[in-house]
Formats: sequence, C-alpha cells, structure tokens
Amino acid sequence: MAIIIDETKNVLVQGITGREGQARTRLMKDFGTNVVAGCTPGKGGQEILGVPVFDTPAEAMAHCKESGVGAIDVSVLFVPARGVKDAAIEAIEAGVKFLVIVPDRVPVWDAMAIAECAEAHGARFVGPNTLGVLSPGRGVLGMIGGRAASAREWFKPGHVGVISRSGGMTSSCGYYLGQQGIGLSTLVHVGGDQVLGTRIPDAALMFEADPETKAIVIFGEIGGSQEEQLADLIREKKVTKPVIAYIGGAAAKEGTRFSHAGAIIEGGKGTHAGKVSALRDAGATVVEGFGDLPAAALRVLTEHGIPLVSREAQAAMAAQNPNAWSTGVTEIRPNHVGVRGHNIADLMGRVSYGQAVYLILRGELPSPEVGRLMDSIIVSSIDHGATPPSCLAARTVASTGASLSASVAAGIMSINRHHGGAIEDCARTLKLIMDRAAEQPDMAIDEAAQQVIDEFKSRGERLPGFGHRYHTADPRTSRLFELAREAGVDGPYMQATEAVLRRFAVAGKRIPLNVDGAVGAVLADLGFDPAVMNGLFMIARTAGLVAHVIEEQTCNRPMRKIDPVAHSYNGPTNRPPVSG
Ligand SMILES: CC(C)(COP(=O)(O)OP(=O)(O)OC[C@H]1O[C@@H](n2cnc3c(N)ncnc32)[C@H](O)[C@@H]1OP(=O)(O)O)[C@@H](O)C(=O)NCCC(=O)NCCS
Repeated sequence: MAIIIDETKNVLVQGITGREGQARTRLMKDFGTNVVAGCTPGKGGQEILGVPVFDTPAEAMAHCKESGVGAIDVSVLFVPARGVKDAAIEAIEAGVKFLVIVPDRVPVWDAMAIAECAEAHGARFVGPNTLGVLSPGRGVLGMIGGRAASAREWFKPGHVGVISRSGGMTSSCGYYLGQQGIGLSTLVHVGGDQVLGTRIPDAALMFEADPETKAIVIFGEIGGSQEEQLADLIREKKVTKPVIAYIGGAAAKEGTRFSHAGAIIEGGKGTHAGKVSALRDAGATVVEGFGDLPAAALRVLTEHGIPLVSREAQAAMAAQNPNAWSTGVTEIRPNHVGVRGHNIADLMGRVSYGQAVYLILRGELPSPEVGRLMDSIIVSSIDHGATPPSCLAARTVASTGASLSASVAAGIMSINRHHGGAIEDCARTLKLIMDRAAEQPDMAIDEAAQQVIDEFKSRGERLPGFGHRYHTADPRTSRLFELAREAGVDGPYMQATEAVLRRFAVAGKRIPLNVDGAVGAVLADLGFDPAVMNGLFMIARTAGLVAHVIEEQTCNRPMRKIDPVAHSYNGPTNRPPVSG
C-alpha cells in the first residue's frame, strides 16, 4: 500500500484536452498510473493517448462503471483557476472521492466552496496549487516527478512518507533521501495556499494509517500552524511513527512572505523557533540544516530497524543486474558504514575491539563482559615470540625484501592444523568426549575422556589443545578460564578440558592445557562454530606478525641466516603489572 495513489486506483483527468492535461497524462501513464478517462466540456467522444474523453465527470463515471473498469477513485484537475470550482464540484457530485487540484491562483472562496462540497459528500482533496502526489513504483498524480524514467531513478519504493507545502522541496526531499538509499511510500505536496484540502497534519494521519509507511519526513516552513498541529498529534500519540523534520525560513523577518501564501509570520505566530521547539518537545527529530535531513532520516530508520527500501525494490534492483549478490556483514552507502546493522560511528568509542569482533563474526553485539573475554582471547594469542612457524615464515619472507603484506601473509599461511589450528581441533575433540558421555547414560565425562585419549594414543596422535613445547603450565590458560567465569561462561567444553586433565593426572602425566585448547573450549562454550575459531587466532596473531616483520625489515640485514632456535630477547623486561 501507499497513500492516495497506487496501481489499483482508477484515475480521471479533468482538462485532459488542454496543453498540460495532455502532456501530464502521457507522463502519468508512462509512470504506470491507471488513467481510465478524461473530460473537457464540449470535447467528449474523442480519445487522447488511448484514454476516452467525456464532457462531464458524471458521464466518465457512468462509462467506467458500465464497461467493467470500475468506479473512478481519483480525479486530477488540469483546469485553469477560474474553472476549478465547477470542475471539482462536478467530480465530487459524480461520486469521485479524492481530487488532486493542480492549478494555482484558485480563489480562496472557491477552495472553501470545494471543501464544503467535499465534506458533504465524504470526499477529500489535495491542493489547490499542488505539484501532486507520487507513490514510487505505483503511480503519480499531477506534475511531480517529471519524466517517468527520472522519477523511477530518483524515487525507490520504501517506507518513508514525505510531506511539504513546497512542491520543489517535496521532490528534493525525495531525491536526497533516495541518494541516501532511502525508499519512499508516497510523496505528498499538500500545496502552499492558505485554504487546502489536505494539510500537513492530515497527510501525517494518512501516513499513520498506512501499514507501508514506517516513518514520516516533513519539509516544513514558517507561517500558519500546520507543523504545531502535527506536534500536537505526536504528543497525543495520534501520530506514533517517527517524524524527521526540517523547518525552512529561519532567517525570515516578521511580515515577510516566505515563498508561499501561507508562509508568513504574523503577530509572533508561526515562527521558525516555535515550530522547531513544538516538534522537538513532542519527540520529533528536527534538523538544523536541510542537508542534514537524509542522514538524520537514515539514523532514525536504523534505530527503529526500518528497512531502507521495500522488498520489491530490492528484488527489482537485483533483477536489473543478474550478477548482483548480497552480503549481510557490512552495508556501505554514501556517508554510511553499517556493521551488521550498527552504524560504525555509534560503535566507535562505545564498544571494545572484542565486542566488535564478536559482532562481525556472529551478527550480534555481546555483553561488555563477553566483550572483555573476547578481548582477552585476542590478547592471549597476540604473539608467542620468534620461534613459532608463522613468525619464522613471516620473518624469513621479510628478509628477502618482500613487502609487509606478503611477509605477514606468509605467516598467516603457516597457520594450520598443528599451529594455531589446535583451537578448532580441540573444540571438536571436546565435543567428541561430550557426545560419547551423552550417548551412554552410565558413562561419566572422565570415562569418556579416557576413551578418547586412548583412541588418540592408539593412532599415535596427540590430543589437540594439550601439551606445550615450552610451558608446563601455560600462563594464559588459567587466566582465560578465570576471565570466562567472571563473564558467566563455564560450560561443558571447559568442564571437558578438566576431565582430560584429571585423566592425565591419574596416569601420572603433567600435560597442561595450552592456550589453543583453552581458547577452543571458551569459544565453544560461547557458541562459536568451530570453523570460525582459527580465524580468531589469525585476527589475534596478525598484530604480532606485523611487529615481527617491521622489526625484521628495519633492524636486520636482508637474507641473513635465521636460526629457528638460537635467538635472544632484547626488549624491556619486568615492567610493572598493568592495573585495572
Ligand atoms: C491548470 C493549468 C496547468 C492549465 O494550463 P494549460 O494546460 O496550459 O491550459 P489549457 O488552456 O491548455 O487547458 C485547460 C483545459 O481545461 C479545460 N477545461 C476548462 N474547464 C473545464 C472543466 N470544468 N472540466 C474539464 N476541463 C475544463 C479547457 O477547455 C482546456 O482544454 P482545451 O484546451 O482542450 O479547451 C494552469 O492553468 C495552471 O494552473 N498552471 C500552474 C500549475 C501549477 O504550477 N501548480 C502548482 C505547482 S507547485
């Protein structure tokens, strides 16, 4: 759905034989508007652009009903001002329930007479002096949007309704929202005259009732009380959808007319400051500059989880390019970076690196406590000296004169099953132990652990995540488990590592849980897919590799002999413990 015009509406054009009537009927039809009849007194019986022309709206209505087209829903008037009152009243009396009155200079008393007739017949109208109404992908009434091809390019179907008293600014709002990637339900130019059929608060109530519209953008201006009345509706919760507004005319002096007949400050009423504070106090977002409107709308839509364009628009965009593909990781649009739906500017300074890594890998932001645990996992694996294969590979490649990226990549490429990869393998092995215990009701976790240890031993393999080339008690593992418990994580994987350690102790072996095993157990208890786990090691170790490559490139001779073992440490030692 949309408001006022969509593909289901039968449209009459009054004044279809005139200059604008003909030109605009072509554009409306090009855009997809269902123009079913036209009328001009004395010119009935002909066809204009395949549309039958009648002398009166009553004849047009009768023909449409009899021929099976159905009742006329909307009439658009391209009749000069002096003929508007009669034309509008004829249409209303013929049973048309909605009019779009394009002409300007319609006398105020004529507009009042049309309003009285409309009210008596349960009809409504937009205008006079309106550029029209446009629902992207559905239909257009009046002059708004211009050529169909450009209107299609500028305005995508979506969930934002736009209202303004200015025709140019209605289109501009739609255009700039579109540039920000925001689609629209309907654009309504209510008109700039003092007596209007539909005012800003009326259009806002129509958008409130439209399920497709999820937010409302207003280009307001000084004078009158339409914006203040909208503020009242928001305060009374009659308009509950988010409203984003800009009010033009901040610099206008009292008594000066600002563009439209209704845009004049008199007796201190209708001021810029008054409208801004009324809307802000009611809870609307009001921007200072017109240029801020698209970004503010984007922020509000993101905060409310409102999709930027409709599903149909997304599908249509994809259909236009058969090679198009989608990603759910990060959304990039002009002036916007959205990581898993969160504006990156909002994340910056508010979430830790660990929280951001969790978010990008899992799609949801973790609690600060889990973020702290993620941080500690990353810190625990940041480096392990010069002798691990990844560091030796990176330093060896760097010593040939290779670039930083090639050298670091060489280090990353050496991360595999037996180096760094034990995280994933350990998580899978612990799962095997847990499954074994779960399958046999009588089997305790220690017994299942022993079975798996024996199976590995019989194949001549080491249990991944246990034992270390250097450490008999890895300083990182106990600290990691301590932090995990502080974050409320102490699941079956962590407990399974303890079962293995108990079995080793029974056999008289002092084999420690190494950092890979501890990280694997904690990540598994956090619900990570094992396939992602070695990626975390790469994320962490990249920082260490960069440091080693830079040191190799800046402190050593090219092509030196790099002994894989004999080396010493020449950096600072025994720094005071970090508190906090
Ligand atoms: C309404 C308007 C567009 C008409 O301009 P136009 O097309 O150049 O005028 P024309 O004289 O060529 O056509 C008007 C037609 O309406 C017809 N007409 C007059 N009274 C009519 C009636 N009661 N019912 C139906 N048609 C009627 C005329 O006969 C004429 O058709 P014809 O030329 O075949 O005789 C113009 O008067 C106007 O108001 N322009 C400003 C619009 C605008 O800027 N709006 C605000 C935007 S922000």
